[in-house]
Amino acid sequence: MTFNPLKEKGIPLDKQLRNWEKIAGYPYKRESVDCYTRTRQILMNGIEIEGWNFKHNLLRMTTDSEIKKLVADTRHIETTQQITVNWLTPFNQSVLDTTLGYEQVAVDLTAWLAQNEPDEYVKETYDFGLLEDFDHLYRYSQFAYMVEGTNPNEILHNKTDVMFARPTQYHHNDNKIRMRKGYDKNTASPQTKANILTLLAGEQQTHNFYAEHGFMYGSDDLRRLYAEICDVEEEHVTMYETLIDPTETPLEKLLLREFMEVCCYQNCYNDEIDPKIKLIWEEFLAMEIEHLQIAGKLLQKFEKRDPEEIIGTEVFDTCHFEVQKKYVNSIIESEVDKRLDGREDMGYCKIDELDDNWPSYKVQEIVSGEGAPSETSVRVSAAALNSDVYSADNSIIKDREKLIQRALELKVQAPNTVSVDEYSSFEKNKCFIKK
Ligand SMILES: [Fe+2]
Ligand SMILES: [Fe+2]
Ligand SMILES: [Fe+2]
Ligand SMILES: [Fe+2]
Repeated sequence: MTFNPLKEKGIPLDKQLRNWEKIAGYPYKRESVDCYTRTRQILMNGIEIEGWNFKHNLLRMTTDSEIKKLVADTRHIETTQQITVNWLTPFNQSVLDTTLGYEQVAVDLTAWLAQNEPDEYVKETYDFGLLEDFDHLYRYSQFAYMVEGTNPNEILHNKTDVMFARPTQYHHNDNKIRMRKGYDKNTASPQTKANILTLLAGEQQTHNFYAEHGFMYGSDDLRRLYAEICDVEEEHVTMYETLIDPTETPLEKLLLREFMEVCCYQNCYNDEIDPKIKLIWEEFLAMEIEHLQIAGKLLQKFEKRDPEEIIGTEVFDTCHFEVQKKYVNSIIESEVDKRLDGREDMGYCKIDELDDNWPSYKVQEIVSGEGAPSETSVRVSAAALNSDVYSADNSIIKDREKLIQRALELKVQAPNTVSVDEYSSFEKNKCFIKK
């Protein structure tokens, strides 16, 4: 079902403020929440934080008092929405539990967007990021099991596989070469723009969550893993934000953010199976329709532009979650040995096509010179279990040794890298984390 959000009726702005009981809300249950209800909740929290943050930056760069006042009013609502959404998290969902949820968002959302993205270059960028977040999920899963005794499928519900992909130690780059080519705002489709903003908000919040919570464990190995992966999420923010045309005006950017919120809440509402949470998505969708129309009127008044020229007349499914194992496996098979090329074209290449002076070698030599925490994570499980913690179909598991051989780069390698031989020596068929 689609609709023109510029023509729908939303909740008037002066009816959007709620009382504290409604703002703080009530959490879901860790034990019984559907994993994709959790991924929607994690993503929408990131989206509200992006909305709030963008509007503060807008305030700091705006002189017109009419724009400032309207943005102040909608920003107040964004922050109350953010609390309601984030505080659906129950107190007994641990930081590692939530972390597995964040990476499940990244994997299944990026896979969905890659398959629903009209721009080929943007799609290729999603596929590249997808394998990195998939590998993060594997590294964190080792600690979820070893530190908290949590079977990762208690959180993932067997909907997302747990296995290595492009190893995390190779995700560290000279941040300059993470920058991508931006789309042309005059020719890019509204779907491309909404897709990028959705994923960008998710990745930004993933970075912030790791930066704010990685210190909450006593294990030095786990603290370092959070530091390592947090740094990759910084690269992901760089990668996705530079896909955006920087010449969009501030009011155009405001309109696109509200449009993205409408798309996401509409998609959440359609997909939600928890009746109480579905009501939240429905109410927030109606709020966002009003925000969008306010942004559209500002654009008409101050730039004499029709909002339909920018966002079109329909909404898109920007945050649909479903099992993506087959798609992810196909990208692992084809791209486990892919790298950013570091050249003018801002493209990609295979390991053996890299120049000797590829700028990221220097970065990797420094950060992983004494060992990569992402490799230690596997050693911690292997020492106790004689296996890594994994959960994947036999179709991909049977190729594990060949895949790790292709994925490991000899030129720069952390001294504690788990070798092909070590993977071969792990106890076979110990896929003990089946739910
Ligand atoms: Fe919002
Ligand atoms: Fe990640
Ligand atoms: Fe990421
Ligand atoms: Fe909004």
